[in-house]
Amino acid sequence: MKFYMAPMEGLTGFVYRNAYHRNFGDVDQYITPFIGNRNLSSREKNDILPAHNAGLSVVPQILTNRADDFLEIARTLQEYGYDTVNLNLGCPSGTVVAKYRGAGFLALPDELDRFLEEIFHKCPLRISIKTRIGVENPGEWERLLAIYEQYPLEELIIHPRVQKDFYKNAPRMDAFLFAVKTSRHALCYNGDIASLEDYRQVTGNIADAKLNRVMLGRGILKNPGLIGEIRGGKRVSKTAVKKFHDDILVGYLEVMSGERNTLFRMKELWSYLGQSFTSPEKYLKKIRKTQRVSEYRALVDALFSEQEWCP
Ligand SMILES: Cc1cc2nc3c(=O)[nH]c(=O)nc-3n(C[C@H](O)[C@H](O)[C@H](O)COP(=O)(O)O)c2cc1C
Repeated sequence: MKFYMAPMEGLTGFVYRNAYHRNFGDVDQYITPFIGNRNLSSREKNDILPAHNAGLSVVPQILTNRADDFLEIARTLQEYGYDTVNLNLGCPSGTVVAKYRGAGFLALPDELDRFLEEIFHKCPLRISIKTRIGVENPGEWERLLAIYEQYPLEELIIHPRVQKDFYKNAPRMDAFLFAVKTSRHALCYNGDIASLEDYRQVTGNIADAKLNRVMLGRGILKNPGLIGEIRGGKRVSKTAVKKFHDDILVGYLEVMSGERNTLFRMKELWSYLGQSFTSPEKYLKKIRKTQRVSEYRALVDALFSEQEWCP
């Protein structure tokens, strides 16, 4: 099985990826949070710079519904040395969907088909797709999958929810199984794998050699030892998690301007990591409030030494 790290805006950028790689090194492919405009922002540029991704297998992600924009961004990425890009057809956020981008583009299958025809015709890079199964209901999936079948995708990553689900409701395994049965593409499953049991349930559901890749997002953020646990059955130690945490903190301090920006990122991370400790609430409350890195470090040290790691 190959394990992919999910793109998560504000969370799984290059600082997190590099710290993860140094500490655990068991991810086969990282997809970056999305790039949305022709003129890459400095955050986007930093995230994809080869020097910031040395030794990692990284596929940058593009979010657009305009073929000319996609092609222009892909050209830029080619100049940076990338040979594969990922198209985001899964983002459920209201502002993105309102512009018919991300999962919103799934509402316009004819336009999507034309868009894919053009980018697959003209793009010099390989293209993978990360998709939801529809906007309103799973009945849309068959048509969307039939469209994907016409193009030579590098791979198809499926998060089997509809846009309207956001992250609620259970992933719709029937829709994923339909793809396993009918698609010619290499498939990757994504959604709600947060434990070894979840992983076994998903892969046990699919007794098919076609599924040899899964993508994990929130599960890794809650428990960075998750892939190791799945692969080797061994739980990661609290000491190893602390070292990983410290690496991320130092990484952000090096690249972000000002303590507040670093703390903003670390607080976001704690909304996931915090779930894996016994009684974390009183520490998390103070962590959320602090504006100083020195105080933040003391709070985190206390949490690690006084509470147990129980992912
Ligand atoms: C805060 C947040 C940011 C995300 N950013 C992106 C993104 O930039 N691109 C993308 O394709 N998916 C994005 N996702 C979706 C994840 O990649 C993934 O599909 C989703 O979390 C389901 O997988 P999981 O259950 O393993 O977390 C984001 C999700 C969250 C919660």
